[in-house]
Amino acid sequence: MCGIIGYVGGKKAAPVLLKGLQRLEYRGYDSAGIAVVDGDTIRAVKTRGEVKVLCDKVEKNEPDGIIGIGHTRWATHGAPSDVNSHPHLSADGRFCVVHNGIIENFAELKEDLISHGLPFKSETDSEVIAQLIQYLYNGDMISTLCKVMDRLSGSYAAGILCADSPSTLYAIRKDNPLVIGLGQNENFIASDFAAALEHTHNFVQLNDYEIAQMTARAVTFFDRNGNKVEKTPYRVDWDISLAEKGGYPHFMLKEIYEQPKALHDTLSPRIKGDNIVLDKIEFSPANVNSINRINIVGCGSAYHAGIVGKHFIEKYCRINVSCELASEYIYSNPITDNRTLTIVISQSGETADSLAALRLAKKLGSHTIAIVNVLNSAIAREADDVLYTYAGPEIAVATTKGYTTQVAALFLVGLKIAKVKHIISDARYNELLKELALLPDKVSEILSDTDKIKRYAENYADRKCVFFIGRGTDYAASLEGALKLKEISYIHAEAYAAGELKHGTISLIEEGTITVALVTQQDLYAKMLSNIKAVQSRKGTVLALSSQSNVKVGEQSDGLITIPDCDDDVTPVLTAVILQLFAYYIASKRGCDIDKPRHLAKSVTVE
Ligand code: M6R
Repeated sequence: MCGIIGYVGGKKAAPVLLKGLQRLEYRGYDSAGIAVVDGDTIRAVKTRGEVKVLCDKVEKNEPDGIIGIGHTRWATHGAPSDVNSHPHLSADGRFCVVHNGIIENFAELKEDLISHGLPFKSETDSEVIAQLIQYLYNGDMISTLCKVMDRLSGSYAAGILCADSPSTLYAIRKDNPLVIGLGQNENFIASDFAAALEHTHNFVQLNDYEIAQMTARAVTFFDRNGNKVEKTPYRVDWDISLAEKGGYPHFMLKEIYEQPKALHDTLSPRIKGDNIVLDKIEFSPANVNSINRINIVGCGSAYHAGIVGKHFIEKYCRINVSCELASEYIYSNPITDNRTLTIVISQSGETADSLAALRLAKKLGSHTIAIVNVLNSAIAREADDVLYTYAGPEIAVATTKGYTTQVAALFLVGLKIAKVKHIISDARYNELLKELALLPDKVSEILSDTDKIKRYAENYADRKCVFFIGRGTDYAASLEGALKLKEISYIHAEAYAAGELKHGTISLIEEGTITVALVTQQDLYAKMLSNIKAVQSRKGTVLALSSQSNVKVGEQSDGLITIPDCDDDVTPVLTAVILQLFAYYIASKRGCDIDKPRHLAKSVTVE
């Protein structure tokens, strides 16, 4: 949940670290800090607050030096405060650590280290790493770090400085993301490529229990026993401009506008004539016919994408699909075996609950497919197969293009299985393929005129509660609409299956309550109109979302936003874009910190 960066090279470290932290701020933003080896001492500057507060503090007293580490925090152990901010120094000031993850045995370690005379300053679990290094240090950092890893339990990605080796940066990792960026006479560590992308496109992945030892000119890797490990770099072709706002007021808005491209990049390379080719995933008749159940697992929006996928896959593949929250799946004694296909969805590929679910599914004998956006992320690496969404870097905490590309990828998987099983007619298959290929243009059409969405959003920005209702896939899309609004505007929002409203929730409808009704499924129009009437009879205001050709809904609602006509089965992608904009404009009117909503982090790497 935190972001870490490290630099060793020929430039002044502080500005490089601060810039990197700005790019990592989506991972946590309640405090920040840097430490630089300045002569033969390590100087840390840290503060409660966002990176911009740190920049001001550094400007007044910039540490000099060409090697350093930085951190942006999302507090887990110890409230956000100057003293709990990273980097943490050992008691003798000779070692310094930034850490992302949770040290589960920190309390025992801390007690033990205190009993050996090492005083602690902070309430964090992370400080034990610095103190443990001091305690175990034997003059050789690699063997010391091997011993440190033997003593730590939990998860960590850590950058480490040692005053005795002032030109060397160290890193260790277990279960938390960490990449090594290889530059020209300079090297980096980072929680995510974005932080180093303006310096290099060449990266190496640090695996669990590995150590990186880095100088400006050389990087060496070791396993947990101190043996050297060879690694092959890979290239990340993402353009750095994708990780910048490019004139938009917020990353979220920029990423909403990137959806036509993201959808095109995710769909078009896989649609080859009338064939769907899902990278290296082998959907042979034997494989497909052996599947008797599909479990889709994810968290937050990824879970919502899974619910849309469930509707689609069940409809066309006639296979039982269950969609599970990863955090629940792990403890639910899941019905998963070697005839179950498990699809784990994650934009970041690092979400701890989703990773744990993936590991459990594999252990139970299931074949696993990861639908992931971040190249080489933990979930992508550990799944049996991976289907990347090509959304590019997503910086705003609220996912937009990440979600719609996940839905698109699930449509592809569903159609592919249906085709291999021969249970979809050629005509319907071709129709749906055509509809998928048209999605980027239809999203562009929505984005070309957003005035109406903005007007409604601004009118409703002062409301306390918004309901989202729909049936079938519209209900699935409502879940995502409600999450988007809650997350960035702090308005209470709830998604309800429209037919379920009358079983309790309708008692909350009163004058002033806004209900956003999703009415895109032709076979459900009549039922939805009755649900709209029921809300209006309780003096509630209904804003409907429907297709251009469905005039009746407009006549019977208090407001209407239309989506371009398209096949009912693929509308969740289009409604998602409208609901993202609706949430965005409400949050903007309310003056919220849209890209960095309170209490949240983009990548949730704790269970
Ligand atoms: O990186 P992931 O897709 O695994 O993240 C899962 C959720 O944390 C994420 O979708 C979250 O719900 C978003 N902030 C919602 O906008």
